Amino acid sequence: MKILITGGLGHIGSYLLENINKISKLKKIYVIDNLSTQRFCTLLNLPKTNKKIIFIQKDLSLKNALNNFPKVDAVINLASITDAEGSLKIKNKIYKVNLGIFHNILQYCKKKSSRLIHISSTSVYGEQEGLVDETCKDLKPKSPYAEIKLIEEKKIKKEGKKIKYISYRFGTISGVSKGMRFHTAINKFCLNCALGKPLPLWKGMMDKPKPYLSLKDAFDVIKFTLDHNFFKNDVYNVLSENLTLMNIVKSFKKYNKKVKIAYHSSKLINQYPYMVSNQKFTSEAFKLKSKISSDIKSTLNQFKNLSNEV
Ligand SMILES: NC(=O)c1ccc[n+]([C@@H]2O[C@H](COP(=O)([O-])OP(=O)(O)OC[C@H]3O[C@@H](n4cnc5c(N)ncnc54)[C@H](O)[C@@H]3O)[C@@H](O)[C@H]2O)c1
Repeated sequence: MKILITGGLGHIGSYLLENINKISKLKKIYVIDNLSTQRFCTLLNLPKTNKKIIFIQKDLSLKNALNNFPKVDAVINLASITDAEGSLKIKNKIYKVNLGIFHNILQYCKKKSSRLIHISSTSVYGEQEGLVDETCKDLKPKSPYAEIKLIEEKKIKKEGKKIKYISYRFGTISGVSKGMRFHTAINKFCLNCALGKPLPLWKGMMDKPKPYLSLKDAFDVIKFTLDHNFFKNDVYNVLSENLTLMNIVKSFKKYNKKVKIAYHSSKLINQYPYMVSNQKFTSEAFKLKSKISSDIKSTLNQFKNLSNEV
């Protein structure tokens, strides 16, 4: 099988590349990234593999970016501007870039009959009462980033007769990778902790849940999709656990006794509660087993030799 990983140098893509040997039947792996986020280190010491990894630096948002690109059997689309909180300040840009990339990928998959793994986000739920699943009609995305994910889901559904695809609503990712980023909650908290800065917490959110996904589970889901041809032309929530800030702080206190906390009295951007069911995916595919606390431990461990004391 030939695959194309777009945005392959990023947080999820770099983990995927590190573990690429675990996916069977791969013959050729194309990786495209525009290097806009400077994750060059992903390209260092790629795993030794008898499959060919071909890297191409390209801006996928440009018109016709994939014209004349060779046919692959499956595309894993990870390329996008991904800072949800930051997207509020660059609304026009993120709409242009992320929808531009998505349009090119969709056209390519249609033209070449390539299957598509589309990564959406649980942030499309926005703010919800109780446990929600894929049947929820009242989606309330709270950022341009999340609005775009919803637009993409609708566009891909419309093309459903013309391509084979799967849309995964990933929870917020945690875990260590070569191309990891630190905008997202758990990783940001780990970085703050390592730098001796407090974890910024909004009191009102302490007992409210949000969905998180371990990188390890994210990888297993992508591997399963390719190995089992699990292209169901449908949307699935994918998460390891729903956790409250209280749960998360407990793990930090367990693994770092010196962790500091700064409570804020007003809502911090993007702190909306919602609890998401992954029942649909686990009943049709497999059960996700990873614990977010293990990711917190291993991420903090990356900084174990760092001190903030002068
Ligand atoms: N990390 C999370 O918490 C999370 C949660 C839910 C969904 N997702 C989705 O998963 C996908 C991958 O996320 P990630 O965390 O690996 O993101 P990331 O930001 O770490 O990686 C994205 C990569 O895309 C590249 N890119 C950006 N614009 C590009 C363009 N125009 N052309 C080519 N490459 C471009 C960047 O250089 C970067 O390497 C994204 O679609 C993201 O929205 C991520």
